[in-house]
Amino acid sequence: MQQDLENMVSAAHQAIKAVDNLQALAEIRVHYLGKKGTLTDLLKGLGTLSPEERPRIGQLVNEAKEKIQEQIEIRSQNLIQNQLQQKLESQRLDVTLPGRGENLGTAHPLNQVRERVETIFKSMGFKIIEGPEIESEYYNFTALNIPEHHPARAMQDTFYLEDGNLLRTHTSPTQIHVMETQKPPIRILTPGRVFRHEYDHSHTPMFHQFEMLIIDEHTTMSDLKGILSDFLNHFFESEFELRFRASYFPFTEPSAEVDIQCVKCHGKGCRVCKGTGWLEILGCGMVHPNVLAACNIDSERYQGCAFGMGIERLAMLYYGIDDIRLLFENDLRFLRQF
Ligand code: FA5
Ligand code: MG
Repeated sequence: MQQDLENMVSAAHQAIKAVDNLQALAEIRVHYLGKKGTLTDLLKGLGTLSPEERPRIGQLVNEAKEKIQEQIEIRSQNLIQNQLQQKLESQRLDVTLPGRGENLGTAHPLNQVRERVETIFKSMGFKIIEGPEIESEYYNFTALNIPEHHPARAMQDTFYLEDGNLLRTHTSPTQIHVMETQKPPIRILTPGRVFRHEYDHSHTPMFHQFEMLIIDEHTTMSDLKGILSDFLNHFFESEFELRFRASYFPFTEPSAEVDIQCVKCHGKGCRVCKGTGWLEILGCGMVHPNVLAACNIDSERYQGCAFGMGIERLAMLYYGIDDIRLLFENDLRFLRQF
């Protein structure tokens, strides 16, 4: 019996040494120490021994059991350590590898230009105000002294909505909203989206304008010219030649359109300026007395000057872009340059 026990312990020892995973080790434990295991069977067989032998053999069985348990425990710790080691090695991180890098987004060039414009006007004491993109005919036309038969009202220019309202064709209606609700002196800049049925390399059906409006006593055309050239010099950080061309807007009198010397070709003539050397960037003038009257402002006491400028045109000049449509195609190869 004693010999049997010793053989069993050494067989178990061999088996435990040979296993290479925890699963197999668990099976060995069951085989020797489990409820129906070999050692348990031996313990059960103690009953058949003589009372003198029983305690001695019982003690030997228990010692064998403890030995096997201890060996299993040690092997189990070994295997757990080995597993951990393998995992650490197979999942090793090379912290010296270069990273993948982040793709930082940036503001769209139009928003960059818009922010630049707003910063300059804020520094000159102007308030930034936004108006609605959907307007009634009254705000977009009538209050701006644009008569019923004016071509700007025609369907081919204006996007009308089914309910009779329209997508504003310029930022000028915001002037009306402001003059209806604020008392002079007024000094505002109103940036925003406007819509017209047009499309070529310098016109898009949706574009951006900002409108400058001053209403005060003793406002003159020279205030307008001064603010404009100050603004443009700040914006382009150099002096560009401006050209005031007499023009017509129903809501201003006198009216002018302002051309800036083409920044791309410096006046030589190119695709951007259609070969003329000049690019129209804005319309302006002294606010028409009829417009002031529509807003209950006394035109004997107050005068106003205003302009409406295209933000895309400014962006094209500033960055030297020769097709306005590039600004709306969202081609990353284009946008990444800004
Ligand atoms: C107007 O929209 C007037 N409301 C401007 C104004 C305001 C005059 C206040 C007097 C007093 P005009 O239609 O010319 O004017 O447009 C003004 C500017 O918007 C143009 O000079 C041009 O820079 C830009 N613009 C006009 N149409 C387009 C278009 N389809 N795409 C891009 N920019 C445009
Ligand atoms: Mg024009």
